Amino acid sequence: MAGRIPDQFIDELLARTDITDVVASRITLKKTGQNYSALCPFHNEKSPSFSLNPNKQFYYCFGCGAGGNAISFLMEHDHLDFVESIEVLAKEAGLEVPREQGAPDRYEQNAGLLKVLTESATFFQNQLITHPDKARAKSYLSENRGLSGQIAKVFGLGFAPSGWDNLIKGLDQKAETQEHLFQAGMLIEKKDQAGHFYDRFRDRIMFPIRDSRGRVIAFGGRAFGDEKPKYLNSPETPVFHKSQELYGLYEAKQNTLNLDHIIVVEGYMDVIVLAQHGVTNSVATLGTSVNSQHIQKLFKLVNKITLCFDGDKAGRSAAIRGLEASLSVMQDSKQVRFLFLPEGEDPDSLIRKEGKDAFLDRLEDSSSMAHVLFDHARKEVTLADEEGEAQFAQNAMKYIQSMPDCTLKSILIKQLTEQSGINAESLAITSTKPKYITAQSDPNTAHSEHYHNDTPPEYDEPVGYYDDIAYEPYLPPAREDSGYFKKSTKQNTFNNKKGFNGKPFGKKSSVDSDHFTFPKMSSLTPLSQIDNATLCLLLHPHVAKEIDVSDPLLRQPDPKIQLFSKVWRYFSKYPDKNTGNLLGNWHGNENYNAILFLLNHPDAHTKSKISNVKQEVIDFVDRMEERLGRNASSQRLKNQGNETIKDNDSRTELRQWMEQMRKKKRP
Ligand code: UTP
Ligand code: MN
Repeated sequence: MAGRIPDQFIDELLARTDITDVVASRITLKKTGQNYSALCPFHNEKSPSFSLNPNKQFYYCFGCGAGGNAISFLMEHDHLDFVESIEVLAKEAGLEVPREQGAPDRYEQNAGLLKVLTESATFFQNQLITHPDKARAKSYLSENRGLSGQIAKVFGLGFAPSGWDNLIKGLDQKAETQEHLFQAGMLIEKKDQAGHFYDRFRDRIMFPIRDSRGRVIAFGGRAFGDEKPKYLNSPETPVFHKSQELYGLYEAKQNTLNLDHIIVVEGYMDVIVLAQHGVTNSVATLGTSVNSQHIQKLFKLVNKITLCFDGDKAGRSAAIRGLEASLSVMQDSKQVRFLFLPEGEDPDSLIRKEGKDAFLDRLEDSSSMAHVLFDHARKEVTLADEEGEAQFAQNAMKYIQSMPDCTLKSILIKQLTEQSGINAESLAITSTKPKYITAQSDPNTAHSEHYHNDTPPEYDEPVGYYDDIAYEPYLPPAREDSGYFKKSTKQNTFNNKKGFNGKPFGKKSSVDSDHFTFPKMSSLTPLSQIDNATLCLLLHPHVAKEIDVSDPLLRQPDPKIQLFSKVWRYFSKYPDKNTGNLLGNWHGNENYNAILFLLNHPDAHTKSKISNVKQEVIDFVDRMEERLGRNASSQRLKNQGNETIKDNDSRTELRQWMEQMRKKKRP
């Protein structure tokens, strides 16, 4: 994790930066008296209501209330996070961003890898211009796929010619470069010839995969014909974690004015063809279904996400995975919708057939989350009459309860009680621990940890058949447990009324389980999110070292977060120790009973089997950091910016505006 940027540096940076330059290089400003005015870049308008005050170094829009300093302008305008904005400003000011302590972030560590990846992208692009076979590649792109040269350029498409060492020979011949290329997944080491490599990508159209800042971190390579695999992707590398990235996100940010809605599709080509037709706000997962990390990442940028699926059965079940992924990270003022395409079509084929407007109409008509949830809960019903109705209500409730508290959750509960005629209290009582449905019924989330598997579950690629894709697993493969899904569903839904005497579930407790304290907690009480995360670490200590937890979170005084932090610290510090060692060490200290309690909780049984522990803990950490750490620290640092303004009145003024902006833009 990157060390903290010192506050003095941010002061210095803001002092050296003129917001006028920052804004003027991005939108057209007109001088009006002492100030500047402009058409606001944050909402659509015909006459200017955006104003910039160079003396006080802030901007404010009287139309939409957007306002702030140079940092917040970059955050909003370039869709950057706080640190990214600092980096951009620092670059423009010719300053190096210092870090207080802690290891350099993975990007800094991996600068060498990123460098050769960028060089590879340039190399592949050049092949489209210079290689003797370029005509074949170009005609594939333009004739077979109907892509314009312009859009190919926007997405940086390239060509990997056939042959074993084009890339190796195409870059400089230094041993270090080869080592970096290898670590970046571009080369494969020859069997029985350590230190000798060949190109991974051969005879393919190359799609550079960029991170949200535009750095090339991996590639997808498409075969020209029906060769398998159709798409060959970079393996997991230190700079590429497939399940966390979204193809086209950078391009969407760059090319969409007022990015407030993102469409998630399945394929590289879908993103590119949509963009060519003017729908620039789509992204694609990289051969996995959409997971909660994706959704969280997108929620930081936009309030509305539409998940797009094929109309067939595979699409339907992918949509349920998307539903589960979204429910668990839902927030107020955010929206997830579902677009089901006609069978046999993907966004690429559809927009070429119907055009942009028809596609936008389909987006307008997409299904709400509530619709998909209730519809699916209805479809899961196997019984008739009242029993069927109860089953429906319980099915729906288990999804609803996987949501964090938010307005939508209350609305859904209300709708459900209306639809089913069962009151909320009994619904909460009959449904037990909901949180795990995402984890357990989501084969995709499990899949996303099977990093050795290059293709999504739908593709029956004989993994390992092609040497290319039989690379080292990033994580040990998750346990095989064939009867697992069935068994766990049973355990975690409503059928285990046996051990349940109805007592621990008050109206409040079922919804607000985070407020339990250990002594009062019955072992039948669902565990809170924090406890879940701690239990995950206790049962799977090896994931601790793969997870970053920020200092602000570790320092939270809440006893449960403290317990989590201690367990995390212990296992990241001693990766070879197990929970037995921990109990031995902690015997008699204040955490000992809490640990025993968690280990003895009935949920420990199912938790011990889940394969997406890492994801579950990361999700938890993200959520908590979102709530506590990051917001607080970026807010604090933004306020540091205000202190550079010495005049008290303007400071108050700016504060108010910042406050307004914060309320408006950030949850
Ligand atoms: P599709 O098979 O739907 O491909 O895979 P597509 O995007 O429509 O591709 P075209 O139109 O035939 O070129 C969707 C996504 O699944 C992943 C890729 O990310 C692809 O874009 N995929 C697919 C693989 O990773 N490997 C494969 O062999 C196939
Ligand atoms: Mn396609």
